Amino acid sequence: MTERKKHKVTLIPGDGIGPEVTQAVLRIVEATGVKFEWERYAAGAEAFELHGEYIPAALYESIARNRVALKGPVTTPIGGGFKSINVTLRKKFDLYANFRPIRNLPGLETKWPGVNLIVVRENTEGEYVGLEREVVPGVVESIKVVSEKGSTRIARFAFEYARKHGRKKIHSIHKANIMKLSDGLFLRCARQVAEEFPDIAYGEHIIDNTCMQLVMNPYQYDVLLLENLYGDIVSDLCAGLVGGLGLVPGANLGAECAIFEAVHGSAPDIAGKDLANPTALLLSAILMLRHLDEQAAADKLEKALQTVYAERKALTRDVGGTAGTSQFADGVLAAMG
Ligand code: NAI
Repeated sequence: MTERKKHKVTLIPGDGIGPEVTQAVLRIVEATGVKFEWERYAAGAEAFELHGEYIPAALYESIARNRVALKGPVTTPIGGGFKSINVTLRKKFDLYANFRPIRNLPGLETKWPGVNLIVVRENTEGEYVGLEREVVPGVVESIKVVSEKGSTRIARFAFEYARKHGRKKIHSIHKANIMKLSDGLFLRCARQVAEEFPDIAYGEHIIDNTCMQLVMNPYQYDVLLLENLYGDIVSDLCAGLVGGLGLVPGANLGAECAIFEAVHGSAPDIAGKDLANPTALLLSAILMLRHLDEQAAADKLEKALQTVYAERKALTRDVGGTAGTSQFADGVLAAMG
């Protein structure tokens, strides 16, 4: 018998609820039998205390070497302080595609059952380039960068994904009525790519209308293609459609590397209270297993997760249960048999 491959993966537990959900997810992922060697690193304020750097050089090297990372949320100070670790890592490794599948889980009552949306967010440009300055006291400017290259490659990612996975429709979401040049360029690039994919329907909606449409009738959408800021906001809105931020996974994908992380942040309001739902990070780990071509393990975990939700046996409080973070993990482990 051939020895099973061991995957070297960079692990960033993060802060806030990060270490709790990471611990739960590691227990579950390791029980699949897939072999991992985790290279664990702190990032953000914790890393600064330990190493005097917000992102230690060894962490960058580890991601560059392993090309796959699993990451918990990292707190970003508001209105000052250090630059977002998430934005910095996405930029550094050119992880231009942020992929966020939004699906209902069984056993959870929501206004809209059977939601099955894909949010594709441009991950390196837009308002997140961090070009802000005070022009004169009391006046600041913030530069939004949209490039032809960046817009074309994210549009191509969305269309190629759609074709490969049998998706029928892509909507570009924009505000080109106001931001005529920047969002106009984004749309022009998307339209050009759309012409190469006549098998996939293409539409365009303005961002404000889209938010209303999503809460009134999410079924009209299939794949949403958005710039960085719009994608950030709309994916949280979509998380609300299926039961909250505890449930939505994400992947940051580039040509070389991939970082898998939940959509949610560090949730300081519930950190350290054994209340966090590890489902979003677990679903992100399932995306990672598929990326590593560990399909059987991914299928097994997905099935166990569906069972836990369908039976409503070990659910956390955000989705109406009473279980703690580790009890939820126990529930998934039991369902794996
Ligand atoms: P958040 O996503 O941390 O929390 C929003 C709400 O959702 C809170 O009520 C929280 O309790 C709840 N929630 C989030 N995840 C949950 C989970 N797994 N289980 C149960 N409830 C959950 O957003 P917030 O409060 O705006 O941001 C907190 C910090 O996280 C900020 O510093 C922000 O910059 C950072 N952040 C980091 C991200 C990352 O590392 N990828 C992504 C988003 C935010």
